[in-house]
Amino acid sequence: MKTFYIETFGCQMNAHDSEKVVGTLVHSGYTQVDTPESAGLVVYNTCSIRDKAEQKVFHRLDQFKRAAGKGKLFAVIGCVAQQEGERIFEKAPHVSLVAGSASYTKLPEMLVQLEAGNRRVTGLDLDTDETFDTPFTRRDNPHRAYITIIEGCDKACAYCVVPFTRGPERSRTSESVMREARDLAAAGYTEVQLLGQIVNSYRDPSPAGWDFATLLDRVGRIPGMRRVRFTTSHPRDFTKEIVQAIDENPALCNHVHLPVQSGSNSVLDRMRRLYTRDEYLRRIEWIKKSPRNISITTDIIVGFPGETEADFQSTLDLLDQVEYDSLFAFKYSPRPNTAALGMEDKVPEEEKTRRIMILLEKQRAIQIRRNSELIGAIEEVLVEGRNQALGQWIGRTSQNRTLNFTHSGPGGESLMGTYLPVQVTRAGPNSLVGESLPSVV
Ligand code: 5AD
Ligand code: SF4
Repeated sequence: MKTFYIETFGCQMNAHDSEKVVGTLVHSGYTQVDTPESAGLVVYNTCSIRDKAEQKVFHRLDQFKRAAGKGKLFAVIGCVAQQEGERIFEKAPHVSLVAGSASYTKLPEMLVQLEAGNRRVTGLDLDTDETFDTPFTRRDNPHRAYITIIEGCDKACAYCVVPFTRGPERSRTSESVMREARDLAAAGYTEVQLLGQIVNSYRDPSPAGWDFATLLDRVGRIPGMRRVRFTTSHPRDFTKEIVQAIDENPALCNHVHLPVQSGSNSVLDRMRRLYTRDEYLRRIEWIKKSPRNISITTDIIVGFPGETEADFQSTLDLLDQVEYDSLFAFKYSPRPNTAALGMEDKVPEEEKTRRIMILLEKQRAIQIRRNSELIGAIEEVLVEGRNQALGQWIGRTSQNRTLNFTHSGPGGESLMGTYLPVQVTRAGPNSLVGESLPSVV
């Protein structure tokens, strides 16, 4: 029996790629198993966004060096594969397959080569026009599904490895996206998340020529679709029409993730982010003016080369001004093939640590304040899990907040995947607690 084990690192794009890879492997006659020990083929779908993420796969490969002798095959796919290419065979000679995401359409052929005994199979081409559309996606979640609408990235942020690891931008046709979304709704999915490195750079390559706002709206109008999310947006391509679409279409979730990276114009300029602080804030104003109460989240990098104390203070000041509902903060990590690699005035590691701690503390206070404003509110949640120990259900609000709640009415397992109104009773920095409303059950 052909068996495989897959472990996925990194972002949602990678998580969804893995769903497609699993579907493709299963279609090729492989059976998925739960441990690397019991698998004939071990697949690592890797991330190289920061050095720490990249090191994880080499650590894993080291752990299984000895097992390799016993006929086990190892595949490294995803961003580290694309970045390191054939060097992976040198670093970890027991690896047999190295493939980046732009080559996944050729995965069935690569598997055939692997099965024929070829011990050095690669898929590293970036110059593809194709997206990895497969009829065999094996989705992990029965209620919420990812849909890739655009792959790759044509921007050139000075810190970022993604344009190099995922290749140039390729949008799917609106027809193909709509077909997938309709099929998902027909199969019982009620929430979809539109995915792309820069999801809002979407441009329909077919004559219909839909822009991102149009596609978003149309997906939200599919019967049975209750929640549509999208990630990640780039501020430069973020249009007023996107906010208007959310205003007018209740199925579009009231949440926008809009990575700012820094609040300082000089840092933004050197990062090549293509917007100024004021231009970014104008977009935030559009979002805040919406009657929908749209939550706003972001990504921040601290310690980019040349970031001064004053630059950092501008970022802190931006946090006060925007009052994000949540954020991801990262210490700048030098990446191969990026423009920032050669930049002067590196910020020492201890200083990056100091800055990120200050930033996270400020954000924590903002979140405590913002979340506590929701006490007493009634929020609709999609039930996503159960915390047995606490006797709580885990729900997610349209704003993408976690709302853990108790439920005294009938339910059991049947609550999973349902939508319920929940009254918020308590608020912490990272989640809310509440009680489902008995009257409606
Ligand atoms: N170092 C630190 N953080 C990075 N990110 C991207 N590249 C780097 C890097 N070299 C962060 C950005 C991006 C998020 C996905 O990861 O904030 O938005
Ligand atoms: Fe990591 Fe970026 Fe690749 Fe996603 S696209 S897996 S975040 S390097």
